[in-house]
Parts: sequence; structure tokens; C-alpha cells
Amino acid sequence: MCGIVGYMGNQDATPVIMNGLRMLEYRGYDSAGICTMDSGEVEIRRSSGKLVNLERLLKEQPLYGNIGIGHTRWATHGKPTVANAHPHKGGSVVVVHNGIIENYLLLKDELSNKGHKFLSETDSEIISHLIDEKLKSTTSLEEAVQQALKELQGAYALCILCHKDNKTMIAAKSGSPMVVGIKGNEFFVASDMPAIISNTREMVIMEDGEMAVFRNGEVKFCTLDGEDINKTSRIVDWSPLKAEKNGYPNFMLKEINEQPQAIRNVVAGRLREDKGDVFLEELGLNNSGLNAFERLCLVACGTSWHAAMAGKYLIEEHCRIPVDVEIASEFRYRNPLISEKTLLIAISQSGETADTLAALREARSKNAHIVSICNVVDSSIPRESDGVIYTRAGLEIGVASTKAFTTQLVALYLLTIRLGRANGAIDLKKGQEMLAALNKLPAQVEKTLELDSQIEEIACEYLTSWDAIYLGRGISYAIALEGALKLKEISYIHADGYPAGEMKHGPIALIDREMPVFILAPNDRHIVKVRSNMEEVITRGGKVVALCSEGDNETGKRAEFTLQIPWAGEALSPVLFTVALQLIAYNFAILKGKDVDQPRNLAKSVTVE
Ligand code: AGP
Repeated sequence: MCGIVGYMGNQDATPVIMNGLRMLEYRGYDSAGICTMDSGEVEIRRSSGKLVNLERLLKEQPLYGNIGIGHTRWATHGKPTVANAHPHKGGSVVVVHNGIIENYLLLKDELSNKGHKFLSETDSEIISHLIDEKLKSTTSLEEAVQQALKELQGAYALCILCHKDNKTMIAAKSGSPMVVGIKGNEFFVASDMPAIISNTREMVIMEDGEMAVFRNGEVKFCTLDGEDINKTSRIVDWSPLKAEKNGYPNFMLKEINEQPQAIRNVVAGRLREDKGDVFLEELGLNNSGLNAFERLCLVACGTSWHAAMAGKYLIEEHCRIPVDVEIASEFRYRNPLISEKTLLIAISQSGETADTLAALREARSKNAHIVSICNVVDSSIPRESDGVIYTRAGLEIGVASTKAFTTQLVALYLLTIRLGRANGAIDLKKGQEMLAALNKLPAQVEKTLELDSQIEEIACEYLTSWDAIYLGRGISYAIALEGALKLKEISYIHADGYPAGEMKHGPIALIDREMPVFILAPNDRHIVKVRSNMEEVITRGGKVVALCSEGDNETGKRAEFTLQIPWAGEALSPVLFTVALQLIAYNFAILKGKDVDQPRNLAKSVTVE
């Protein structure tokens, strides 16, 4: 998630923008930049790393002018370098961008053929060149912007300057958040309220497809067809801290609710519906490369290991390729049987987990080919990999992984399609069906999030329990493990996940009238067996919370509580069951008064053994 700030008014723009960018630092970033317009000239300063580097540069080479735009970059396309930092300039146009442009490669080719030269690896840079190109055939900057934005596919929140029209600043939004602050004839634009709330509390929330044109102390809102829009402002009474959490009480709940957008981000630009395939831009392996491997080895820690467990089920089921799943801290010391015929996939949100990095290096020493699935661009693990699939979840501040995990599941689903299309195990029709299911997922996540009030009731009922069991069969076993970990790490209730078929082999001795048993019962191939496992628990006086598929009014009949989860098919329903289990853990922890963002004894990234 990048941070954007724009300013037009009677103050010096640079300090206003830099203060705004500082307030967005919590979003995470790896480079920053600013552009101001002063007597018709635009000047840009950019730096990699933290804002302090940009501040140092501005001390040496100050910027002037009362119109400006600024940016903190969370890399999704291209490494965190100065060349990739925003603002980006194309001809006379300068932009800062938050979002992902899905058709940027096609547009880049078209613009290159018209003589445009690109200096970065980013998708954002093409926007400035595209607007500059449109200026040749339009009579105003806003018309050029309108025409350019109509050609973009994907998400954007943009601030735009152009030295040919040095009294104008334009903002535009589609798919990424953007807010406008108004203070008399001063205007502030930002991707998030914290950047501007110290300047003004009068805010206008922009909607998708809207533009704002700031000129001569006035602002006009319009559509991309130039039709005026009458926007009403509102006075926001949030504290800057509350604004950082977008109004949520903590980062964990904010990030749980960001999952629909995070899933849109991880698939953006990667689906090839016509081919029933996916395009994984940095995988670095073509069909013959992928088909050269005899087996896959997925290695990770914690929640990422649960994603690896789910990945095994997906890949073996759909691609018929043998998959081993390894806990990194065990793998690294076991002299594992790895060869150049092994594709090792390291899964890590942070890209810095010491055990996973060590496991990757162990596999490298045995000539494995390495791919990583990671959320932090250019972190250690992807840097030491031959290829990478970035999950693009944006910064995850809560120590308990939520959106990073569900985007790992989706990344593994994308990889499954790619592998299955490469070796023919997935045909065109099946591939297209799998992509169609994926397109419905964000809305199904939004529907699952609506279960929160029911879930709070469940947490209230079992609040005094000190133990819990999570049961699932097949891929749901991996999700049961994740549900148990979530409960453990934020509520400190002891919880274990088991294959439901394992109950008779010991765990059933634990059943009593106090301990909740969460049973994952999606309407998949295991449903009959899971129902009988549920009966085993109930007949022994156990307290069952049944998570079923929407429309299944049978399975939960004898359970104490039943949650109906939307059906996304066997391969994607785990994402939705995960969201419900995240909310279960969250509600338990909040009711127990725990700090869900910073649970005791835990670190967000375990960079030591
Ligand atoms: C999950 O909620 C925990 N934060 C932890 O298990 C985490 O998944 C594990 O430490 C691995 O971290 P990584 O994904 O950054 O490698």
C-alpha cells in the first residue's frame, strides 16, 4: 500500500507534504519522493529507504512552490530503488500512484512505439507518459487525464501535476482509497486521512471513477466523462491514531477487513481467462521449466507453514505432482533429500524468517530451484530466490497474520493453475472454471465478514474455556491448524488442530462439557465423514461449533452453534473458513482484554533462530 499526499494552497507545499508522508509511515514503505511546482517549473526529489533520507536530500536541494505531490512506496512492481520511487515524470506530466495497473505492459509497449522512454520497472510510470501522450490531442489537462484513465485496467489513486498547466492539480480514484481535505481555499489530497487530519477535519471521500480538479483556490469534482459531481464534505472527529486504523480499534481488525482488497491485489493483472491460465510475472519458469521438476518441497514456519499444508492439497489434487511440506526449523538440520529435480518453494510473509531463509540456503546447496511466495518485495528470501510470487497484501502490522495468510492461499491457488496448465493436468475448461471461482472470492469474503456478530456470541459462550480443538479433513485440516494458532497467539487459550479422523486415536479423550470443538465442515467430499466425527464428539457431551457451507442445514443440527460460510468450491472455501476462524480468535481475544496487535512474547518477523 503506497502513501499519497497532494497540496495546493497558500503555504509552502514541501513541509505540508512531508508532514503528511510522515503520518503515513505506518503503512510501510521502502522509498519516498516529492514534486513541487514553482513558477511553472516542476522539480522532483526521490530517495530509497526511509523519509529521513528524503529530508536530508531536501536540505541539500530544497523545493519551493505552493503546489506539490508526495509519495511513500510499498513496492509491488520493481525493486525499492530511487529509479522506481515516485513521483514519476513522463514528458510534462508528473504522477504519484497507489494501486496496481493490470495492463501496464501492453500500454508500455504502445507508448514505447510512440517514442516514450521509460526509466523505471514500475507500472505507475506509464500513467505519466500516457497522460503526456493524450495532451497532444486534447485541449486541457483534465481532458487528457480523462482519456488516459479510461485506458487503464486495475486500481489507482493518483495525484497529477503538469508544468504546461502550472495552476492545476488533479486527483483521481478507482479501486484505491483517496480522500480530499478542504480548508477554505487550501486543498489536501491523501490516500488516507492521517496524512491530512492535522490540517483539516473537513473531508470529502472520493469514490471510484471520480476526479478532482484543483485550480485557483477552487475544486471541481467530475466523472471521467467530464460530468460535474456534487460532493458533500463531512467533519471527521477521529484522532490521528484512530485515523491510522481507518476507524478500526486495532490493526488486526483493519487487516482482517482489508482481505477482499488484498485478494483483488494478489490476482490483479495475473488472470488470463481466455487461456484458463495465470501469468506469474516473476516466477521465472516456463512450461518446460516447470515440467522438469519431479517434486515440490514447500518450506515455511508458523502460519506460512499452514499455507504450505493447504498448498500440498491443492497441487497434488489438481496437478498430480508430489509435494512435501516441511517446517523450516526441522528441514534445515535434517540433511534433506533435495536435488536439481526439486522445486523448493519458500513461503514467508516477511521474507526475513531466519529458519525459512536457512532452509532455502540448505536447498540451494543441494542445487534445488528456489521460488518464494512473499509479501515484502525485495526482502531477503525473494532476493535469494530464482523466482517469486508476491502476495501484494500490503503492510501487515498485526503480529497475527491474517491478510498475508489468505493471500498466500490465493497465490498457491494461482501457482496450482499455472503448474496444472503447464503439465496438462488442468485443461482449458477447468482452468477457466478455477479462474471464475477466484473472481467471486472477494465478495464472498465480504459476506463472511458479516458473521462477526454471530461469532461474538460464540466467543461469549466459551469465554472461560482454557482449551479448544479444531477439526478438519483434507485441506480443511490445514485451516484447522491455522484457526488453532490464531486462537493461541492472541487469546492465549490452548488450542490444537487435528485431522478429524484422528479423534479416535487419542484426542477424543479430551472431550468434555467445557471445551469448544470447532469443526470445519465444508460441503466437500469429506462432509459425510466429518458429520460422523461431529457425532462422536456430541455423543460424548462435547460442545461443537460447526462451520458449514451456506445452505447446509443438516450438518449443524446438533451443534451448539452453526456458522454458514459461503461456498467457493473445495479449493477456495478454505479462504472463507479462515476468515471466520480469524474472527473467532479475534472476538475471544478482545473479550478477554488482550492486545491483539502485539500479543505477548511474539514478534512479527522471527529473524533469529
Ligand atoms: C502467524 O500469525 C505468526 N505471526 C507466525 O506464525 C508467522 O507466520 C511465522 O513466524 C512465519 O513468518 P513469515 O511468514 O514472515 O515467514
